[in-house]
Amino acid sequence: MQKIIILDFGSQTTQLIGRRVREMDTFCEILPYNKFPFGDPDVIGVILSGSPLSVYASDAFRPDLTGILGHYPVLGICYGAQYLSWSHGGRVEPVGTREYGRAALSVLDKDCPLFKGFEPNSQIWMSHGDSITAIPQGWRKVASTESVEFAAFECAFDGSSKAWGVQFHPEVVHTLQGKLLLENFVVGICGSRREWTSDSFIESTVAELKAQLGEDKVVLGLSGGVDSSVAAVLLNKAIGSRLTCIFVDHGLLRKNEFRDVMRDYQGLGLNVVGVDASARFYSDLAGVTDPEQKRKIIGGDFIKVFDEEASKIQDVKWLAQGTIYPDRIESMNITGKVIKSHHNVGGLPKTMQLQLCEPLKWLFKDEVRAVGRRLGIPDHLIGRHPFPGPGLAVRIMDDVTPEKIGILQEADAIFINALREWKLYDKIWQAGVILLQDRSVGVMGDERTFESAVALRAVTSVDAMTADWADLPYPFLQKVSNDIINKVKGVNRVCYDISSKPPATIEWL
Ligand code: XMP
Repeated sequence: MQKIIILDFGSQTTQLIGRRVREMDTFCEILPYNKFPFGDPDVIGVILSGSPLSVYASDAFRPDLTGILGHYPVLGICYGAQYLSWSHGGRVEPVGTREYGRAALSVLDKDCPLFKGFEPNSQIWMSHGDSITAIPQGWRKVASTESVEFAAFECAFDGSSKAWGVQFHPEVVHTLQGKLLLENFVVGICGSRREWTSDSFIESTVAELKAQLGEDKVVLGLSGGVDSSVAAVLLNKAIGSRLTCIFVDHGLLRKNEFRDVMRDYQGLGLNVVGVDASARFYSDLAGVTDPEQKRKIIGGDFIKVFDEEASKIQDVKWLAQGTIYPDRIESMNITGKVIKSHHNVGGLPKTMQLQLCEPLKWLFKDEVRAVGRRLGIPDHLIGRHPFPGPGLAVRIMDDVTPEKIGILQEADAIFINALREWKLYDKIWQAGVILLQDRSVGVMGDERTFESAVALRAVTSVDAMTADWADLPYPFLQKVSNDIINKVKGVNRVCYDISSKPPATIEWL
């Protein structure tokens, strides 16, 4: 299958470039800036991403682009454009104040294929602290803005393919014709046949799974989430009852979730073993307040329970997982800091002697959903908000007890059901309730109360890397607050979290 290679120089928007290319029904791979797959016959074009670094800094990423330039069409974005220019004798300098925000683009060369169909003064989005102040001799300036002379350039090399550089970000929505620019590159210039679709993915993946698995038996951990559910249905289509799914109830799920999801899975014809292991998780979590410790215990217990159940099935050869592409992208982590460790609870039994099967490993989340819909998975399963593997344990600020889980389940059910009733659920990336550690004074009837406070959290996001608090209507918040305080015993105060990520994170722990 044809593919575009995106070389990652560490920009926050590299994955977004990938998603935009996929939206054009074109397969792409995001690889570290120096890992170009020379010799891969499917590559039809290359995109160089942005970066937080400066090309002239001592720690800048400066790969050798020989063998790429002239051989494939290349598009450099921001740092990618600056590096192209700088490494061929152009000048890149700091601009003093960072150029950030909207600008109007004047396309000077109306025949440039990258800007085919562009409106005059099309809005673009700039975000850079350096600027190209001179391009190499023989290169052509094709677009400018009021403050950036070389907003876009075109250059030719020995060989049949040209390269282009743009100092703005076509991948972000604020560049209003950014999709058109990327389409001009991917389809118009690189010649994508647009063959990457849900149907083609399902067809080729089912065929590959049949060939790979033969008559072997496969075990898969279901979490109730979208990824593992879609992986299970895809595998079921390929190998039917030779797939056994295990759904572990760690007691930290939402209210009635285990029962409801089991019913959905059975409706999909999956062969599912449901295991209620909540007592074991509660007992191991007793008294533990440290969030990372909670995650470790939950991850460890999950392996044990899964292992015990899987070993009851004879002759299993494969462990299937719902790993998706963003989980695997070996991106440039410039800071190298871990903010919090994310256990994919469904994916930990490494001690088992099984081969790994990951049918969704090339898909972004929106593609997983599209494939799920084509496979006939009901919308309420496909459209579910993400939910952390360690469940409600990371929404309780101190130690986990069955009583606190009960309080949280009730409050969470009121919030989530209200979001659905008010038709807000699908507008939100993720929502949940956090049980705070401290209690506060209240008054109910004539009685003084001294009970828990909960925080409602609802965010909008495209990929959970950044998120904004959702601007929920006041009457909605008022209703949810009233319902929680009146109906959930043990809660007398409701707050709404108005922190964005960064600097906060989506979960509190
Ligand atoms: P944060 O809190 O880092 O969360 O902004 C980003 C996304 O990841 C989810 N999350 C987790 N998922 N195990 C998971 O499987 C975890 O330990 C975990 N912690 C956070 C979170 O719900 C959000 O969607």
